Amino acid sequence: MAPLLAACVSAWRNPVVCDCGWRPAHPPARLASLRSDPTSPPSGPLAGNQGQFPIVHNVTVTEGGTANMTCRVEHNDNTSLQWSNPAQQTLFFGDKKALRDNRIELVRASWQELTISISEVTLQDEGLYTCSLFTMPIKTAKAYLTVLGVPEKPQIDGLTKPVMEGDHITLTCVTSGSKPAADIRWFRNEKEIKGAKEVNASGKTFTVRSSLQLQVDRSDDGVAYTCRVEHVALASSPHQATEVLEVHYAPRVEITHSSVFPQEGQFLKLECVSKGNPSPDPVLWTKDGGELPDIDRMIVEGRELIITSLNKTDNGTYRCEASNHLGTSSAEYVLYVYDVPTTMPPSSALPTQPTTPDIAFFDPHGTKSAATGVVRDPNALEQSGPDHALIGGVVAVVVFVTLCLIIVLGRYLARHKGTYLTNEAKGADDAPDADTAIINAEGNHAHAEEKKEYFI
Ligand SMILES: *[C@@H]1O[C@H](CO)[C@@H](O)[C@H](O)[C@H]1NC(C)=O
Ligand SMILES: *[C@@H]1O[C@H](CO)[C@@H](O)[C@H](O)[C@H]1NC(C)=O
Ligand SMILES: *[C@@H]1O[C@H](CO)[C@@H](O)[C@H](O)[C@H]1NC(C)=O
Ligand SMILES: *[C@@H]1O[C@H](CO)[C@@H](O)[C@H](O)[C@H]1NC(C)=O
Ligand SMILES: *[C@@H]1O[C@H](CO)[C@@H](O)[C@H](O)[C@H]1NC(C)=O
Ligand SMILES: *[C@@H]1O[C@H](CO)[C@@H](O)[C@H](O)[C@H]1NC(C)=O
Repeated sequence: MAPLLAACVSAWRNPVVCDCGWRPAHPPARLASLRSDPTSPPSGPLAGNQGQFPIVHNVTVTEGGTANMTCRVEHNDNTSLQWSNPAQQTLFFGDKKALRDNRIELVRASWQELTISISEVTLQDEGLYTCSLFTMPIKTAKAYLTVLGVPEKPQIDGLTKPVMEGDHITLTCVTSGSKPAADIRWFRNEKEIKGAKEVNASGKTFTVRSSLQLQVDRSDDGVAYTCRVEHVALASSPHQATEVLEVHYAPRVEITHSSVFPQEGQFLKLECVSKGNPSPDPVLWTKDGGELPDIDRMIVEGRELIITSLNKTDNGTYRCEASNHLGTSSAEYVLYVYDVPTTMPPSSALPTQPTTPDIAFFDPHGTKSAATGVVRDPNALEQSGPDHALIGGVVAVVVFVTLCLIIVLGRYLARHKGTYLTNEAKGADDAPDADTAIINAEGNHAHAEEKKEYFI
């Protein structure tokens, strides 16, 4: 029970979070007074005078809106209630209007309640309003009327159209009239970015300015920069302003090609990928600094150069050039027409990834990779590094030569040993007698030893 009690006491201090099922029937008086509206006097038996106290609440209203000011008395013995404004002018005394201001109207008047409304509220209406109960002595309660200043629609300044790439620009977004000061957030295509905020007070309201310094890049072309004004008076529909950047930049050119190892007789397409604003068009193709030599086989279509059937005479440097009023850019492609391999690999593998003779060189069997149908990506060879390939090749050659030597040596020894045995046998067979056989055998033996020494 003790921990439960502790939890409940802490929950009473923080009434929003109470996870226990049990509550004291009457919270301690000290806590009750903390929880009640500080602008209203304590109620209940401790307060005395049978609860004849006016109870009011603070009111917050947006500029231009209507504020209802309510004053209540729980037990009233027919004593009048009165509302007065921050300047101590009486607005209503019971149901009697006291101040000539047609924005102020009576909503409800009874012994228990006096409610008035103030419409078209301005910032000047803000302040402490007093409800008085004319007992002896007079009892009062004060309610604060807070008026929120609505920020004006923002405007983005500092943008020229178009902007040149590399220019430094400062976008500023200003909104005035907010109270309290509004918040300004910047977004680059929905993604939030940080601006520098500056707040100045002007009278009761604030002017908020946020600036964004940018060095314009080509990637900013077509990008929307949004300044969003957030404020309590705007609830969930913030004001915003958006500007779309138009960035002008000189073209940048790049050539893409359809084949990594163009071979004689093949088709080759080069594309001049040029980006620039304003768009550079058309592009200009040249070969080795001059015009394209063979108009029949070399077809220019828009940004593309198509060579229908490659010939070794097509070797050379191809250049494409694009320009707009901001500048000119070019890119080069060095064409090297490869031989058609003498033995054709399976047709499906040939066009995009033909093997180079270099790979065949490392094959210890001396057959061309292309012929065996093994297709290796030349880029993969490059990635593995020339050192590895070289070492592999050397090792393969050394192993191959060593194997050959061992085989040749083995064969030679085997053949010689056979001869020796045959001679010995022959010597024994051919000899007419044992002596001759021994002589023959000895002679052969000596001869074999000589040979052995020679070999060792
Ligand atoms: C003020 O009181 C009137 C009458 O009860 C009601 O119609 C109106 O909605 C109230 N206005 C506000 C802002 O509470
Ligand atoms: C309060 O006023 C009502 C009529 O408005 C009257 O009937 C009642 O007796 C009065 N009460 C007191 C305590 O004066
Ligand atoms: C009412 O507003 C006044 C002035 O802003 C403040 O001091 C007081 O605490 C507020 N009362 C309540 C119950 O919010
Ligand atoms: C704020 O005040 C300073 C100094 O008076 C001025 O330089 C600046 O421009 C003002 N900023 C705004 C947002 O009004
Ligand atoms: C390449 O061009 C030369 C000269 O123009 C021509 O003689 C030759 O037949 C061509 N080769 C091929 C494969 O088209
Ligand atoms: C073109 O390059 C190839 C490489 O495959 C070379 O054999 C040929 O001699 C070159 N032709 C000219 C005209 O440079």
